[in-house]
Amino acid sequence: MHLSKVAVVGLGYVGLSLACALASRGFEVVGLDKDYEKVMMIKRGLTPIYEEGLDKLLRKSLDDGSLKLIYDYEEAVERSNLCFICVGTPSKPDGSVDLSYVEDASRMIGRSLRNRRGYYLVVIRSTVPPGTTINVVKRIIEEESGKSLGDYGLCFNPEFLREGEALQDIFNPDRIIIGCLDETSGEALLNFYRSFHGDSMPPVLVTTPTNAELIKYANNAFLAMKISFINMISQLCQNLPGADVKVVANGIGMDRRIGREFLNAGLGWGGSCFPKDVMGLLRFGESIGVKLPLIEATIEVNEAQIIGAIKLAEKLVGDLRGKNIAVLGLAFKPGTDDVRESRSIKLVEKLLEYGAKVRVHDPRALEKAREILREKVSYASSIEECLSGTDLCILATEWSEYKVLKQEMLEKLMKNPALLDCRRLYDPKEFERIKFAAIGLGPPNSSQ
Ligand code: UDX
Repeated sequence: MHLSKVAVVGLGYVGLSLACALASRGFEVVGLDKDYEKVMMIKRGLTPIYEEGLDKLLRKSLDDGSLKLIYDYEEAVERSNLCFICVGTPSKPDGSVDLSYVEDASRMIGRSLRNRRGYYLVVIRSTVPPGTTINVVKRIIEEESGKSLGDYGLCFNPEFLREGEALQDIFNPDRIIIGCLDETSGEALLNFYRSFHGDSMPPVLVTTPTNAELIKYANNAFLAMKISFINMISQLCQNLPGADVKVVANGIGMDRRIGREFLNAGLGWGGSCFPKDVMGLLRFGESIGVKLPLIEATIEVNEAQIIGAIKLAEKLVGDLRGKNIAVLGLAFKPGTDDVRESRSIKLVEKLLEYGAKVRVHDPRALEKAREILREKVSYASSIEECLSGTDLCILATEWSEYKVLKQEMLEKLMKNPALLDCRRLYDPKEFERIKFAAIGLGPPNSSQ
């Protein structure tokens, strides 16, 4: 079966990147989203999120007509033979997963399938708790469409996209995981990916939807746990003369069974995925009566990093009350304007709680940060302006733009030059004249 007309439902960074990537490889794509404003914005060639290379690809796809934006499910299903559901699965207040957007999309697709002739494949890409595809999506589609599996196909196919590198991850994924209920659906999706990737087809794992759903959660939880592990070691190092977590990470990372990636100690993990998915997994475990102690500890260590950074700040400048502090970097990681669950924002909020006066800077995320921090901090449009007259500079997000900091510059601009490196961007040797501290860097060893 060859399916080449695609509908993408939900135009967040996952859906929009996918829609543009598919369009750029010659597929006919229709994109739809329940947010009318967003659809109109995208239609004008504007991306609602910053994603490297995406705006260019979007404009090209709109110009050559390979991507169309519509607002109507019936029309989308009519114009396609395969749809990817990429709607959000936000957290409920208790941390469990809110499936209402997935349910709505399934309902609308199901309804639109009622009078549609020919095979149609529904692919869930949204991150959903294990069992959702079988117990929720399948039931809704069948109720609404009056069809049964075989007349239509259903797969769960997780994405592992990193923000800022979403397109690269779509074009060159490590693997494709296909969770299918029947062979026809699995084969149809596999063929679709064969035509997308051509000669550079990545490794594929075909399994049940439940396994595929769990793979997505376990994947994110493992990466978050790896970061929390090195952050836990960073606490050890901070209290150990002569120790340096960066060197420890390099050392254990050389073991091929461990690997160096995701061993960068810092303020912890944030963003739109890890916090939501790690908590989602914990709550899912509870819902079926299974305790997940490593996941609990992963979250606990992540929270402790913020307090750890506050303690380091106090070590450098004493009581934080009334101190002027410059915070460099607000995005949850470099290369994005996303501040969702950003550790830097959490740190700023904590500094304010401790009575500090905070001035912030970010190369890209200032506008989005302003929506959260509002009048509680002041905003600087340059690094120099941010540092000027302050008592402490905290590097919170490791943008390469911040590599320019020099001892002389801090001495010249700051009232009391002191630097706290929360992302291990700097070489401590370059700041020997001023007060300097870094996460995971122990006090100098007196016998060295
Ligand atoms: C992540 C996963 O990597 C991706 O596969 C999944 O689909 C979505 O979630 P993303 O949220 O874009 O992607 O960010 P990522 O680059 O993984 O970083 C997540 C957080 O961990 C960031 O806050 C980052 O600063 C932090 N991090 C990452 C560390 O603190 N140390 C590291 O070594 C790596």
